[in-house]
Amino acid sequence: MMASMKHNLVLFALFTLLSTFVVSQANPGYNYGFDWGGGWGRGGSNNNNYNSLTPYFYDYSCPQANDVVISVLEKAIAQDRRMAASLLRLHFHDCFVKGCDASLLLDDSDNFVSEKSAKPNANSLRGFSVIDEVKATLEEVCPETVSCADIIALVARAATVLLPLGRRDSKAAYMKLANTTIPPPTLIARKLIASFKQQGLDEVDLVALSGSHTIGVARCTSFKKRLYSQNGKSQPDVSLEKAYLNELKSVCPSSGGDNSISPLDYATPKSFDNTYYKLILGGRGLLFTDQQLYSGNHPKLSQLVKSFAEDEKLFFDHFAKSMVKMGSISPLLGTNGEVRKNCRRVNN
Ligand code: HEM
Repeated sequence: MMASMKHNLVLFALFTLLSTFVVSQANPGYNYGFDWGGGWGRGGSNNNNYNSLTPYFYDYSCPQANDVVISVLEKAIAQDRRMAASLLRLHFHDCFVKGCDASLLLDDSDNFVSEKSAKPNANSLRGFSVIDEVKATLEEVCPETVSCADIIALVARAATVLLPLGRRDSKAAYMKLANTTIPPPTLIARKLIASFKQQGLDEVDLVALSGSHTIGVARCTSFKKRLYSQNGKSQPDVSLEKAYLNELKSVCPSSGGDNSISPLDYATPKSFDNTYYKLILGGRGLLFTDQQLYSGNHPKLSQLVKSFAEDEKLFFDHFAKSMVKMGSISPLLGTNGEVRKNCRRVNN
């Protein structure tokens, strides 16, 4: 594994991206040629036979891959600041369903129903056209080389941490699984832990990765229940701080407004920082699941929330490590799966 300091250097690049939403080649912090050393060896030219993930996977077969991703992202984020958050989320929703294999990107076909129509994804996930644009450009510069699964990771990595590559794409989508393995925002702490455990992720990963909610937004429908009738008792969630509750009610009335949005971190919605945890300490987590990390009667989780709230560097360090771990969930390696030509369809 790489040194934590180097993780943080890459994360500082993220702050630049997320705080200003401008990616400049001239920005010394945003250096994707960054040699971070560590446990991954640089590959040879026969990259497609790798049986493990490495950040250097495309160094020889498609050295332009990062530049393409960055230039497409630069444009997309300049047009829509929220896009960085939406793209980061895609990696999570891909990896939690049979591994990080881009099954999420497939459209409906004769053989399967798209995961895009699963409950956690429908009317919620965004950024598919950005992925399409990256793929189309990469097919021009290095045809049939960069998998869609790695494009999701490259895009998440451009928005966050330098992640290892080498995944191939699935030949199917798993809509039913998407409905069961992506945790809904109604789970109590114990069930959140169980959901992450199923993916080989532990409590630290759960708390660190939830820190992604330092950016981006949620629709009213994702948190309405806790404003009006937590546990079906016509009472708000007791863990919700009163002033914040009233603010949320104004955004999200008891009837209608389901698609109104609210920042997941209302204090610093545009910067990738540890304010998310500070808010949770004060009962100002937007989703029930965010607040459960501190208020869910789970000492280990609440201690982690406190630690990350107190020590931003510790959060960044764990976030980077947990992103790498999540990105390594059951990848298709070597000759398994395929490299799709179009991320929305399996190859013929
Ligand atoms: C711990 C379990 C998690 C739950 C229950 C959860 C749930 C949600 C929900 C309900 C939303 C709002 C969706 C909507 O209203 O349309 C959301 C947004 C988001 N989630 Fe999570 N999430 C979890 C973990 C994660 C992880 C692990 C990541 C990334 C590594 C992540 C990244 C994001 C981002 C960036 C957004 C904002 C997206 C945007 O603005 O377009 N979440 N999440």
